[in-house]
Amino acid sequence: MKILVTGGAGYIGSHVVKQLLEKGCEVVVIDNLSKGSFKAIESLKGIKKFEFINLDLEEITKLEELFKKHKFEAIIHFAAFIEVFESTQNPLKYYLNNTTNTLNLITLSAKYGVNKFIFSSTAAVYGEPDSGEIKEDSLLNPINPYGRSKMMSEWFLRDLASSDEEFKFVILRYFNVAGASMDGLLGQNYPNATHLVKIATQTITKKRDKMSIFGDDYPTKDGTCIRDYIHVEDLASAHLSALEYLNSGAKSEIFNVGYGKGFSVKEVIEKAKEVSGVDFKVEISDRREGDPACLVANSTKLRNLTNWTPKYDDLGLIIKSALKWEEKIK
Ligand code: UFG
Repeated sequence: MKILVTGGAGYIGSHVVKQLLEKGCEVVVIDNLSKGSFKAIESLKGIKKFEFINLDLEEITKLEELFKKHKFEAIIHFAAFIEVFESTQNPLKYYLNNTTNTLNLITLSAKYGVNKFIFSSTAAVYGEPDSGEIKEDSLLNPINPYGRSKMMSEWFLRDLASSDEEFKFVILRYFNVAGASMDGLLGQNYPNATHLVKIATQTITKKRDKMSIFGDDYPTKDGTCIRDYIHVEDLASAHLSALEYLNSGAKSEIFNVGYGKGFSVKEVIEKAKEVSGVDFKVEISDRREGDPACLVANSTKLRNLTNWTPKYDDLGLIIKSALKWEEKIK
């Protein structure tokens, strides 16, 4: 099966490319390397050869050439900006890349009859849910441009599928991905990443001398934000399950991808100290704009309708794998 993967040199994309290659798929990766790195995925050529093209989705003519050259059977679309706070400071950057460029890609997908589309969406489309686990049919009410940029792209897919019965999509709404591949081959490379687990491991490895908790006055058990942290390999395997789901001829679907367990920022930091044995400096600072208090997935639908079976549902193990990676890339 020939698959186009956009953003395949990035953190999540590279883990999915690895699993696709291990399954024997033919993979064409495009990435503008703004956050990803070719070096990161070069080693995957040892599993199976794949084509890599340095391309920005804005380069529509070049993108169309690819659709003419290859007969893709499916598209897995990762390429996007993902930082909530940055989206509040530079919203148009997010709408251009995450929304306009996605529309261009979907347009080409429809034009060239690529009828299976897997889209990386986010828990940020839910905004500030009332409480408890979030189901896929919960109200979409994003509170930052990042979430809105993704929500609009979801609608492009939903409307296209309503008008074209051949076209099928799976939208995966990611919760908080963390960790690194268990064989130590891949991980979060981008040094300026803003994610909590990455920052904690950078602090443990002394790349930072301290870290901050962004707000401890949220309406949660200990005042810090709660998130559902999922290991990157389990998130990656959800894409392969989504592909099998679409290959079985099933209808378009939206799935949450998380474990359904919430941990506060303080709990994550405590766990990071525990598994590393390092007591690092932590400060309380102001809230970060755009952060909802609590996001925890209900992923029952994904577990029931696909063959997805998560393997690494353990916060300590997630942090340990991230730390091992951070030590490796010193
Ligand atoms: N946090 C800190 N200190 C830090 C970094 C983060 O206190 O140094 C806090 C944040 O304020 C937030 C929590 O840790 O409360 C998690 O923050 P991350 O930056 O790790 O992740 P986000 O929840 O902001 O966003 C991530 C992805 C989004 C996705 C979202 C889904 O970046 O793409 O998870 O829950 F939408």
